[in-house]
Amino acid sequence: MSIPLFDTDTPLNPLRDRIRDRVVEVLERGVYVLGPEVRAFESEFAAYLGARHVIGVGNGTDAITIALRSLGVRSGDEVVVPSFTFYASAEAIVNAGARPVFCDVDPATRNITPDTVRAVLTPATKAVLAVDLFGCPAPVPEIRELGLPVLEDAAQAAGAELNGARAGALADVGTFSFYPSKNLGAFGDGGAIVTDDDDVADLARSLRFHGSRDKRTFEFVGYNSRLDEVQAAILRVMLPELDGWCEGRRAAARAYAQAGIEEYVTPPRVPAHASPAWHLYVVTHPHAEELIAGLRERGVSARAYYRTPLPEQSAMAPYAAGPGSLPATDELSRTNLALPMSPVLSPEQAADVVAALAAISASARSGPRRQPV
Ligand SMILES: Cc1ncc(COP(=O)(O)O)c(C=O)c1O
Repeated sequence: MSIPLFDTDTPLNPLRDRIRDRVVEVLERGVYVLGPEVRAFESEFAAYLGARHVIGVGNGTDAITIALRSLGVRSGDEVVVPSFTFYASAEAIVNAGARPVFCDVDPATRNITPDTVRAVLTPATKAVLAVDLFGCPAPVPEIRELGLPVLEDAAQAAGAELNGARAGALADVGTFSFYPSKNLGAFGDGGAIVTDDDDVADLARSLRFHGSRDKRTFEFVGYNSRLDEVQAAILRVMLPELDGWCEGRRAAARAYAQAGIEEYVTPPRVPAHASPAWHLYVVTHPHAEELIAGLRERGVSARAYYRTPLPEQSAMAPYAAGPGSLPATDELSRTNLALPMSPVLSPEQAADVVAALAAISASARSGPRRQPV
């Protein structure tokens, strides 16, 4: 048995000829940066998201930095960010000149909540950065009720929904990454900023091109961060497939439940009215590393995410809160493990993963047992 952690290749197989044709068209046209493919992708993705504006940028990290500056975040401002997320979410805040303030997450959904945000607000808080971690939408509407501008980092959540609205379009501004392993992944780096606010969109468009609106006069110190034509053309072939791919991921999550995964590990809790995109299927267990090793011995790929909580990364030392102040993050960083997940993970493969968990459980002397919730 061999079950990979991700399979982003198989779903692309039926699209490869069309992708090759579209890439050749771009090469023959000879326009490589911010041309017709980027404009078309921006408008198609905006329609998909139900948003007024999409601005293509170089990657998901730049998307956050540019979006924060477009929201008016300035040097010395504080931006609240989850302590359990990928490093880029916090790094982009520092690159925007602001100070990340780490807040804890809900241990069951792994996302920030209005309460965890409220606990760290100060008069210097300028914005809240909510991450849709592992593809499950954060409670952005409730967090917006706190009255601060909210950025939704939807890098892992393309195709997810909350209350019937698309993840990435739930906040004042949203950001995406099109890194190849993402649910909507290009063949290189790419990212996007999403907003309904004309002023935010205008500033973001200028900042992605050196702070210039006309390429001759320069109003701001900005960035060179642009989505290129080849990636945009590829993303245009993939976008109509995104909902189907996410449905495949949701079917895989249901297959895990039907196979009885809850007997052996604690699966993520899905909030009411949320439809996750399951970029990663991350469960918890008190003996996560033993399970990872046991699964690998049985041909099942599994790995931990964010074992070192963000505030403990040396680059984040200036922003670290006191020890013990982020208990759910500390717990999740010790106990999480990602199991195989992809649009094409079959019910049989999901059942094989659960059978491997059962076999590990049976063979462990003191027995890894289901962690109490
Ligand atoms: C939550 C989150 N935010 C931001 C990023 C950064 O995206 P990129 O790698 O495109 O810069 C990632 C990428 O892994 C991510 O997972």
